[in-house]
Formats: sequence, structure tokens, C-alpha cells
Amino acid sequence: MIIKKDSSDDLLQTDVAIVTWDEKYATGVVLIDNQHKELIELINQLHNACLAGGETVGTTFKEAMSRMVEYVRFHFGTEQELLQRIKFPDIHNHKKQHAALIKSILEAAKDYSNGKKYVPNTFVRTLKDWVLGHIAVYDKAYALYVADQRRKGILGDKL
Ligand SMILES: [Fe+2]
Ligand SMILES: [Fe+2]
Repeated sequence: MIIKKDSSDDLLQTDVAIVTWDEKYATGVVLIDNQHKELIELINQLHNACLAGGETVGTTFKEAMSRMVEYVRFHFGTEQELLQRIKFPDIHNHKKQHAALIKSILEAAKDYSNGKKYVPNTFVRTLKDWVLGHIAVYDKAYALYVADQRRKGILGDKL
């Protein structure tokens, strides 16, 4: 957990990160790792939007949520294009996992609009677990494939 203090303000301003980047999430593909770092940042923003409380939580959460959906789509697009290019054998299943996450995000957003106020807090935690779980299992699987192809000289260092 990171707590940053804003020195320009006497009141304690806390910016709490529920998740921080760790090298254990690295895929070895720079472009993808940078996007995963951005995803983690967006999860933290979403979490902070939930902490905002009061009347602003609705607007802040919705805004953070649409930034999240937009970025997740962009990231999955990049990843799928890469998997296709490198001819990753399990691409079909990987795409299915991506589609399932997009569906859950959109359902949570809909539940929230329909008045289920518990959604923000529980959803951010679920999302965090899902994203980290996906990186640890599925993204790591293609990372191993990439490393193997590089060893064999089939893929270069730059992808
Ligand atoms: Fe993925
Ligand atoms: Fe990913």
C-alpha cells in the first residue's frame, strides 16, 4: 500500500494504491509491460474514486470506469494483435478470457447504473484479482512462448 502525502496541503491527502507493479508480473515484452503498468494505475484510480465517497462517488466512479473500459479494450486489442503476429497457439482461449473480462466490466457498470450501490467497492477488488490473475496465468503463458521463440531465434528482442 502506498500513501502519498501532498506537501502543498496541510490536510492529509491520501492516495491509496490497492495494487502496485511488481517485476513478477513482467512478460518481457516492453510494450505489454508498460500497458499492464497503466492498467494497474487505472485500477488504483478506480479504487480512489470509490474512496471519494459522498455525492461525487457516482460521477468519479463512472468516469474512472469508462477510462478503464476504454483502456482494457485498447490493451486487449494490442495483445491479440501481438499473439496473432507471433502465432501463439492458445490465442483462441486467450481471446475468450479477454471477452469474459470485458463482459464483467460492462455488467458491473450496468448494475451500478441500475442502482446497486455496493458495486464500486466490490468490483474494484474483483477487477484487481481478475487482472492480476489473468497476467499471472494467461499473459505469463504467452511470455514463456515468446521467451522460447526468442531462444530459438524465431523471434527477435523487439516485438
Ligand atoms: Fe491477456
Ligand atoms: Fe494483458
